[in-house]
Amino acid sequence: MRDITVKLGKRSYPIKIGNGILVEAGAHISRLNLGSNGIIITNPRIKRLYGAILKKSLAKKGIGAHILTVPDSESSKSYKVFSGLINKIAKLDKGRKPFIVAFGGGVIGDLAGFVAAAYRRGVSLVQIPTTLVAQVDSSIGGKVAIDLPVAKNLVGAFYQPRIVISDISLLKTLPEREIKCGLSEIIKYSIINSRAFFDFLSRNIASLKRLEKRNLKHVVRKCCLIKSKVVSADEKDVKGVRAALNYGHTIGHAIEAASGYIGTYNHGEAIAIGMIAAAIISNKMGMLSKKELTEIKNIIARTKLPTRAKGFKSPKILAALCHDKKFTHGINRFVLPVRIGRIRVVENVPKKLVAEVIREIAA
Ligand SMILES: NC(=O)c1ccc[n+]([C@@H]2O[C@H](COP(=O)([O-])OP(=O)(O)OC[C@H]3O[C@@H](n4cnc5c(N)ncnc54)[C@H](O)[C@@H]3O)[C@@H](O)[C@H]2O)c1
Ligand SMILES: [Zn+2]
Repeated sequence: MRDITVKLGKRSYPIKIGNGILVEAGAHISRLNLGSNGIIITNPRIKRLYGAILKKSLAKKGIGAHILTVPDSESSKSYKVFSGLINKIAKLDKGRKPFIVAFGGGVIGDLAGFVAAAYRRGVSLVQIPTTLVAQVDSSIGGKVAIDLPVAKNLVGAFYQPRIVISDISLLKTLPEREIKCGLSEIIKYSIINSRAFFDFLSRNIASLKRLEKRNLKHVVRKCCLIKSKVVSADEKDVKGVRAALNYGHTIGHAIEAASGYIGTYNHGEAIAIGMIAAAIISNKMGMLSKKELTEIKNIIARTKLPTRAKGFKSPKILAALCHDKKFTHGINRFVLPVRIGRIRVVENVPKKLVAEVIREIAA
């Protein structure tokens, strides 16, 4: 299968997608001449499952690698864990500039990516994503960050990897809830970009949940293609192109925040509800047809993702939304589907309408 390239001039990089390709990681990495001092950042679970395979593959090409582990949770995207890693890496450096391998889900990708961006003013970064979310989304595009107590992703950088290696066979050990979280982002890609892709997902959602390899590879590839084009066109998120990826995320983030980031809904579940909310807004504004709104609700329901913020009080979600600077300061901005496969960024959606829709989805 041909590689996908994120086109960014001299900083362009390939995305390799395949089944069982972790064993080839050493060969791909050695071609990039990143040196022989590799540092793998991961968590204990991924180390136990796949650490030895990756280390062996690197060793075969003469690349030594230290594995550094961090606790398995969003709380690892913290200044404390970041500085702990930097200190350990400085000890392992010994004058041989290291390169960093981010080996894990989005938490590891964001954290290790930020370490790579900051250490020695930037060392080479390899992304080996191990969750569906990371394979279709977070490993591509160079947004790396850690969280602060006041907000997620507040300290970070744009820092592109040299290569992304996505082995879909690693997903077989992923908990079902995490698979569904990835499917939520995948559905998002289809609604913002392609009716045909949406139809493909509608037909194959059950087999994707079972991780049927052919369909899974096709879907990961398609999402990487969509994201890589968006990133190539608007790397730093300033031209409005990358904003399309935020479909479902405005209200989704508010639901996530209202559930305290650890609570009822995880990210994928919250944005599933957020995608429905944005579709309802679009329908009420006379853009999206009732039929397509129903199709969006149906695919989310068939994926067994939540369609409503059950047990939430709408004022709590609204308060979280108003906390979002993007929402309150001057103009609000929503990514709304005008039909499946096409979105429009709409400014100044009446706040009354937003409140009404939030009441509807929280009911
Ligand atoms: N940078 C970006 O563009 C971007 C985009 C989307 C999300 N994110 C960030 O990504 C993070 C969420 O990432 P995530 O959804 O991948 O969650 P995650 O990294 O927390 O991983 C989810 C869980 O799956 C486990 N896991 C990972 N791979 C596994 C495997 N192969 N087998 C078994 N278990 C495995 C992890 O240990 C963890 O418990 C958030 O911090 C979010 O802000 C960043
Ligand atoms: Zn998301």
